[in-house]
Amino acid sequence: MLKTRCIALFAFIFTYLHATLLCRAAVGDKAAATFNKLNGTAAFEQITEDAFSIYGVLNKGIDENEPDIYFIDLSGDRISFAEFNISINPPKAGPWNGTIIGDIEELNGAYIAILYDDSTIDDAFIVKE
Ligand SMILES: *[C@@H]1O[C@H](CO)[C@@H](O)[C@H](O)[C@H]1NC(C)=O
Ligand SMILES: *[C@@H]1O[C@H](CO)[C@@H](O)[C@H](O)[C@H]1NC(C)=O
Ligand SMILES: *[C@@H]1O[C@H](CO)[C@@H](O)[C@H](O)[C@H]1NC(C)=O
Repeated sequence: MLKTRCIALFAFIFTYLHATLLCRAAVGDKAAATFNKLNGTAAFEQITEDAFSIYGVLNKGIDENEPDIYFIDLSGDRISFAEFNISINPPKAGPWNGTIIGDIEELNGAYIAILYDDSTIDDAFIVKE
């Protein structure tokens, strides 16, 4: 029993170090997602070793000023516009700027969707530039 635990911990540490060593964005690296239906973009830029900025805007298709029922789904994490403090000015949302702790290398290829209630109204993949 004890032996098994030790092996599992070692494997975890090895995987973690392996992932951190290989996947670091450099400051200034950029990534973006394009929303065709909503004529919008989300742009990400690594601004320090530990944080990245987001700039986002949706130019059409946001028809109700209800930030509690529009959501962003990033790789399965669903956050409302209200929680992100994204302002709506129908038919637009944003522009919105924010800073998030993290590394944009981990966002490369991530799925991002915009939802109205439970319906996906647009989606895209984040691509590193
Ligand atoms: C998309 O939004 C931009 C900025 O508001 C605008 O200039 C452009 O005409 C829009 N394109 C479409 C296809 O609606
Ligand atoms: C949300 O945005 C408003 C207007 O820009 C600002 O006054 C407020 O401090 C923001 N709140 C948060 C939690 O970022
Ligand atoms: C948001 O970010 C964009 C692009 O980095 C910048 O041009 C703009 O001035 C910023 N706006 C605000 C309100 O911080």
